[in-house]
Amino acid sequence: MQLQDILYSQGFGTRRVCAGLIQQGHVQVCEGNDASEPVECTQAAMDFEADGLRFRVQGEDWAYHEKAYLMLHKPAGTECSQKPSTWPSIYTLLPSPLRLRPNKGAVQGVQAIGRLDQDTTGLLLLSDDGKFIHRMSSPRHHVPKVYEVTLKHALDDQQVQRLLAGVVLDDDPKPVRAAACEAVDSHHLRLTLTEGKYHQVKRMLAAVGNRVEGLHRSQIGGLTLPADLAPGQWRWLTEADLGLITG
Ligand code: URA
Repeated sequence: MQLQDILYSQGFGTRRVCAGLIQQGHVQVCEGNDASEPVECTQAAMDFEADGLRFRVQGEDWAYHEKAYLMLHKPAGTECSQKPSTWPSIYTLLPSPLRLRPNKGAVQGVQAIGRLDQDTTGLLLLSDDGKFIHRMSSPRHHVPKVYEVTLKHALDDQQVQRLLAGVVLDDDPKPVRAAACEAVDSHHLRLTLTEGKYHQVKRMLAAVGNRVEGLHRSQIGGLTLPADLAPGQWRWLTEADLGLITG
C-alpha cells in the first residue's frame, strides 16, 4: 500500500495533505522489529506492507490499524456526544486522526459504543467498525456491564431483592432486572446489567427508593478498566481485550 494511502486510511487528512506531510519530511517509517528506529521517507507513493507497520508523524508514534478499537476512561463532566450541549465532548480527549479516520470516502472517525451520562465515569469503548459497534450495542447480545454505584441512602436487603426480581421503569411496562447485584457495603452497590436503557441505573435505584450519588462503569463483558488508565486517558484494545469483550 502506498504510504500516502496508509496515512489517509489512519485519519491524517486527505491524500493530498498526507502526500504533503510525507514530501515535507514529517513522516518516518519503521520496517524492522520493535526496537528499530524509524527512517524518514519522503516518497508519498512508496509501497509498504500496512499490517504491522509503525510510523512517526510530526514526532508522534503510530501503528497501522485497519479498524480502530479503543477504550477510554471517561472522566466526569464530559458528554458522549459529537455535538455536546453543555459539557466538553469525550471526542476532544482523542487525537485528531482517530476523529478523522475515513470510511467509504467520508470522514467518520471512531464512535462511542453506547453512552454514559455526563457525571458517570469509567470504561467506554469506541470503534470505527460498524459491525462491531452494532454487535456490542445490540440488546440481543446481552453483553454484561458492571457498574459501581454510590448511594445516598443505606442499602437494605429488600432493595437488592427487588433489583434482582425486576423493577418497572416509567416508560416501559416490561420490568428490567439486574443480572447481578452485590452490596459491597451499606452505600456501595455493584450492579451488573445486560441492557442499556436511558439512565437505567439511576432509574432502577430510584424505583426501589434509593438515589445514585456516584456512578462508575468498571467492566464490559470480561474486560475490566485497567487501574493504570487515568480518567481522560485512552488506549488501543489488544486482541486479548477484544476476546474478553466478545467472548
Ligand atoms: N445508567 C445510568 O443511569 N447512567 C449511565 O451513565 C449508565 C447507566
